[in-house]
Amino acid sequence: MSKKRVLIALPLAADLLTEIERSCEVVLAGGKLEVPGKEDFLAALPGVRGVLTTMRSSYDAGLFARFPELKVVSNFAVGYDNVDVEAATAAGVLVCNTPGVLDKAVSDLTLGLIIALSRNMLKNDRFVRSGAWMKGGAPLAQDISGKTLGLIGMGRIGATVAAAAIALGMRVIYYKPTRDQAIEARLGIAYRARDEVFAEADFVSVHTRLDATSRNSIGAREFSLMKPTAYFINTSRGGVVVEDELIAALRGDTIAGAGLDVMVTEPLPPESPLCSMDNVILQPHAGSATVQTRRAMIELAARNLIAAMRGERPQAMVNPEVWSPDLVR
Ligand code: DGY
Repeated sequence: MSKKRVLIALPLAADLLTEIERSCEVVLAGGKLEVPGKEDFLAALPGVRGVLTTMRSSYDAGLFARFPELKVVSNFAVGYDNVDVEAATAAGVLVCNTPGVLDKAVSDLTLGLIIALSRNMLKNDRFVRSGAWMKGGAPLAQDISGKTLGLIGMGRIGATVAAAAIALGMRVIYYKPTRDQAIEARLGIAYRARDEVFAEADFVSVHTRLDATSRNSIGAREFSLMKPTAYFINTSRGGVVVEDELIAALRGDTIAGAGLDVMVTEPLPPESPLCSMDNVILQPHAGSATVQTRRAMIELAARNLIAAMRGERPQAMVNPEVWSPDLVR
């Protein structure tokens, strides 16, 4: 079997590069093992059959038409909003991702934000460092036990968050377009209409993918349904939220605060009003950013690519209908 040409468009550990080189001919954009700029990326694509890629490279109908030999996009992420999957499917391009291996890490960060907000952890840190403690005790915080967590989305990550929240004594309600009674029975959670989740929860946390239906789906209307004491948490994608309307809700005390791992523009410029709000905790899209989880993700992404190049069925495919042993001849 001849080795198929693949582009490695991200930094990669030496052992995984060696593993890929055993089955494929590797090319690097601009000769570098890093996330390429657009020019180097496009210059490297002719003749490439598969790409190991981050979300920072985009794939659409125009690109598939320009590089018809490209047959596999293996994303180093569970999300795939950098790929027009419909266009990929129409062009016979297989899209792979990394589901499952990051659920716990994203859930941990989500619960971390909930705890940090309810226990005033950032405010208390500043209270100690500024010497305010010398003059008296800090304001009391809130228990999370007994509070209601409202989840928008109930996939693998949502379910992992629900189980962790229940272990901390929270009550969990959720909304997803198709009600899942099996998961309700397994986890002991309750289904609500979408508006009721916003209205009833003390913490609303979003766990949906970004697509045409979820983009800009949470804004002023949803924040106005929330209690003024409630917090909004987002560890999914910034584009799900109308960010200006979130900022207005935070400024106007419509809601109590927010914990955000994702924003519309990433990296978030320091001039963003979010950066100067002390009822907001910000993270740099770090839900999956632990040594162990990122290693598990890149292993899965690399093996998805190798399998597809070898005519084997990859473990995780977004559009499996495209796969066949002859996909990459
Ligand atoms: C994912 O895997 O989709 C995470 O958000 C990292 O991009």
